[in-house]
Amino acid sequence: MSDEDMNTTGSNEIDGTRGFATELGVTDIGDEESNQGLFDDLLSGEPIFENKEVLRPSYTPHELPHRSDQINKMATILVAALRGETPSNILIYGKTGTGKTASAKFVSKELESTSKKYSVPCDVEYINCEVTDTQYRVLAQLANKFIEKNEQRIDDRIDSLEELLAAVDDYDPGSESPEFEIASENESELFADPTADGGSERNVSTGTTNSDTDGDFTPETGGSPAERSTDDVSDAESDPDRRVSEAEGRARPEATGPANTDDTPDARFPSDHPLESTSFDSRQAVEDRIVDLKEDKESFEEVPMTGWPTDRVYSVFFDAVDYDERVVVIMLDEIDKLVEKSGDDTLYNLSRMNSELENSRVSIIGISNDLKFTDFLDPRVKSSLGEEEIVFPPYDANQLRDILQHRSEVAFKGSALSDDVIPLCAAFAAQEHGDARRALDLLRTAGELAERSQAETIVEEHVRQAQDKIELDRVVEVVRTLPTQSKLVLFSIILLEKNGVHSINTGEVFNIYKRLCEEIDADVLTQRRVTDLISELDMLGIVNAVVVSKGRYGRTKEISLSVPLEETEAVLLSDSRLSDIDDVQPFVQARFEN
Ligand SMILES: Nc1ncnc2c1ncn2[C@@H]1O[C@H](COP(=O)(O)OP(=O)(O)OP(=O)(O)O)[C@@H](O)[C@H]1O
Ligand SMILES: [Mg+2]
Repeated sequence: MSDEDMNTTGSNEIDGTRGFATELGVTDIGDEESNQGLFDDLLSGEPIFENKEVLRPSYTPHELPHRSDQINKMATILVAALRGETPSNILIYGKTGTGKTASAKFVSKELESTSKKYSVPCDVEYINCEVTDTQYRVLAQLANKFIEKNEQRIDDRIDSLEELLAAVDDYDPGSESPEFEIASENESELFADPTADGGSERNVSTGTTNSDTDGDFTPETGGSPAERSTDDVSDAESDPDRRVSEAEGRARPEATGPANTDDTPDARFPSDHPLESTSFDSRQAVEDRIVDLKEDKESFEEVPMTGWPTDRVYSVFFDAVDYDERVVVIMLDEIDKLVEKSGDDTLYNLSRMNSELENSRVSIIGISNDLKFTDFLDPRVKSSLGEEEIVFPPYDANQLRDILQHRSEVAFKGSALSDDVIPLCAAFAAQEHGDARRALDLLRTAGELAERSQAETIVEEHVRQAQDKIELDRVVEVVRTLPTQSKLVLFSIILLEKNGVHSINTGEVFNIYKRLCEEIDADVLTQRRVTDLISELDMLGIVNAVVVSKGRYGRTKEISLSVPLEETEAVLLSDSRLSDIDDVQPFVQARFEN
């Protein structure tokens, strides 16, 4: 396609769009016969929402009312990372919808932006273990993220070194170059050849030597950036550049760093020379450094999402993390899913990394709504992960009200909400163990129902409908994903209820279940197993099974359906195996035969 063609197409599109927009609002569309008004009614309704996105689960709020205690506690622990120390590991737990993920993400954003502000190397990586649920995947994802970060840092360093080369080439010995002096101060840490001493980027240290690899990094306690960069230079033990600057002893406070043994003559460059404030003793050294960095970059090998032995993945991840001096916070959300699926190997490996890392430190934040997973952890892993514990208690109705109030101001048009809507959403969600997600879902769904019925305001009735709809959606989802055997048991209970049987007992369910299995050629489980399946349905809230005493005849279970019958039956019959059962009447008769 030529340029001309593209221009023509482009301008047509723009005209077309503009025409559509104006015509909709003002006059008829012109081509009346082709328009049946399908969307007109819907468009004419005054929209309820100003910004529906803020009510969706994917939205991360900037403000989290009633979580300041938990957020402050996290910050108090994690601030260590900004001081170059290793923060304690944290285990966060609390019921679903209590703001764990939202708070953790909020804190990690703040941590990263503060680390940028003060140029402290600190990286936070978030992993959702429900999605990334094996050791291989967790390590591969982390390895690739850190490779990416390392590449980015290398690119930045190469850019700065190339600027330095350009400055060297432009250097005119006669004239002072104030412009470069400013640049060299700001960029000095980049020129300090950070990996020459095994990857140390000493921009947070006071010039302690590399021998403290077993301990935490030493925080910056003072000194101008220029002094710092000189100290950086003094760290480069194995670096030939370092010997030169060390011998010079420029601006470096006495008695910090190793003693000067080298007696290379003082003053390499005039004071205004671009290389003067760096660790490089020649233009060639800068070029060599660029070549080294490029080689490093080429040597990184991205981990494929399957196929390698796990120890190879681990070692790539390890090297990628250790490439630079930094504190790494790894956030493992839904950590119970990872342990459930693939045991505690990942946590074991991550928690003992610090004893082997030379340049970096790793700290772990585990998040879970189910504490039972800790029973399956190796005791060492358990105590390491739980160095600090933060509990997220359920919200009460008043707290949920505040949360909804905050969001609704952005989400809805000015007068779209009647007064009782937020309190009712809060009250319903408070009954659901204080779940903010549920409260927000209710409010959004109520708004959608109001919008659909073209109401101008959301009223209490919309909230009640929303409650029913959400509950039904949940039931449909649970029933749809039941295993076939449980579906057969549930179907048996439905058939009995449909035929007016009350106080159903396990024997009755079993008899019908058996017939159904024969009809569709499924294995028949024992009555004992069927009893277990009934208990599971009870726990899922689909049936209600109460144990009643029959006096000297012992005890029995009385079972009833706790979900809407017709909708549940429809979901069951949408399963292709169950839909083969067409005439159910004979099965119900079976109840009376036994
Ligand atoms: N204090 C709060 N202020 C504002 N919104 C909140 C607050 N707490 C939770 N939310 C919102 O409620 C929803 C659920 O919160 P979040 O995802 O953090 O729950 P969670 O504790 O991680 O639950 P789960 O254990 O199910 O993962 C999100 O949309 C979140 O933005
Ligand atoms: Mg969560």
